Amino acid sequence: MKIMVTGGAGFIGSNFVHYVVDNHPDVDIVVLDKLTYAGNKANIADVLGDHVKLVVGDICDAELVDKLMPEVDAVVHYAAESHNDNSLKDPSPFIQTNIVGTYTLIQSARKYNKRFHHVSTDEVYGDLPLREDLPGHGEGVGEKFTPDSPYRPSSPYSSSKASSDLLVRAWVRSFGLRATISNCSNNYGPYQHIEKFIPRQITNILSGIKPKLYGTGKNVRDWIHTNDHSAAVWKILTEGKIGETYLIGANGEKDNKTVLEGILRLMGKPEDWYDQVKDRPGHDLRYAIDATKLRTELGWEPKYTNFEDGLKHTIEWYTNHEDWWKDEKAAVEAKYKANGQ
Ligand code: NAD
Ligand code: DAU
Repeated sequence: MKIMVTGGAGFIGSNFVHYVVDNHPDVDIVVLDKLTYAGNKANIADVLGDHVKLVVGDICDAELVDKLMPEVDAVVHYAAESHNDNSLKDPSPFIQTNIVGTYTLIQSARKYNKRFHHVSTDEVYGDLPLREDLPGHGEGVGEKFTPDSPYRPSSPYSSSKASSDLLVRAWVRSFGLRATISNCSNNYGPYQHIEKFIPRQITNILSGIKPKLYGTGKNVRDWIHTNDHSAAVWKILTEGKIGETYLIGANGEKDNKTVLEGILRLMGKPEDWYDQVKDRPGHDLRYAIDATKLRTELGWEPKYTNFEDGLKHTIEWYTNHEDWWKDEKAAVEAKYKANGQ
């Protein structure tokens, strides 16, 4: 089997490439990645060779995509502009990569009749009320996202991902594209860009900078270790039903303040050693995934469910890989500072 992994030099894509190399060493992989600010060849340098090749290029480049497509059996599509805060500053690359890029890939997959897996986000469903504001603290039916939840995206990022999901669905129905979709919750683990919440705070502490919490810190994210996401995507790619959408989540709901206090504690700092900064406009309150369909129909179970352990390993990874993030740190923080964050 030979697969194309778009965005395979980014955070989740590179973890997926490692997952496949470790668990299915007979599979050949072509990574198609533009190496934007978020992509880094170093993320997959250790596995490049006979089984894993990197093609540096744009998923919007139809000629290149058409050249690579006939060589592969399937596409796993991770490439995207992925950061909400950036999308609020300048939506245009999000429209281009997330919508036009997905369109370019599915047109080609359709032309060459290839299996296509589209990696998406729970943010397409908008947000949920905080549990404290719900009767029975949100344990009732409909209190988590399910594959039937309405699309209600809030940001330019999430609306561009929602658009791409809808394109894939339409290509399945109208053109018989052999595609599946997964919508996953917030990932954490190694190789995550330091603009994102958890690595930003870890590298702040390592740099002697106070962590930055948006608004009240009550916003809830449903954390999943990226290795569990990779295993789920592999299951869906190989056993999922064409045309279906699977939600991926590991019951990891935590509010941002609690996550930050955990990081501070594990790094030997007082739990209140942080600044509260300007909130994100349109900041989604809570995400929570009901992954029943994936668990019952495909038998997937998350393995990395001890969040404190996962956080400890992630802190260790950033501590031991200063050369991976150090050069970018000042510029990332300067950008946030200019925004009051
Ligand atoms: P990332 O920003 O770390 O990586 C994105 C990768 O895509 C980078 O390597 C980048 O170079 C590449 N890329 C960007 N534009 C490209 C283009 N035009 N052509 C080719 N390559 C391009 O993102 P991530 O956090 O790893 O997210 C990967 C995917 O997973 C995205 O589709 C995202 O929407 C989805 N997702 C992310 C999360 C999360 O918590 N980070 C959760 C659910 C779903
Ligand atoms: O839910 C899945 C999504 O998770 C993915 O689709 C996105 O690609 C991914 O970036 C992530 O989106 P979030 O916006 O939830 O992630 P982020 O790491 O930017 O922020 C997580 C939470 O932390 C969010 O409530 C905002 C808050 N935050 C973020 C930063 C960068 C802070 O409080 N301080 C910060 O410095």
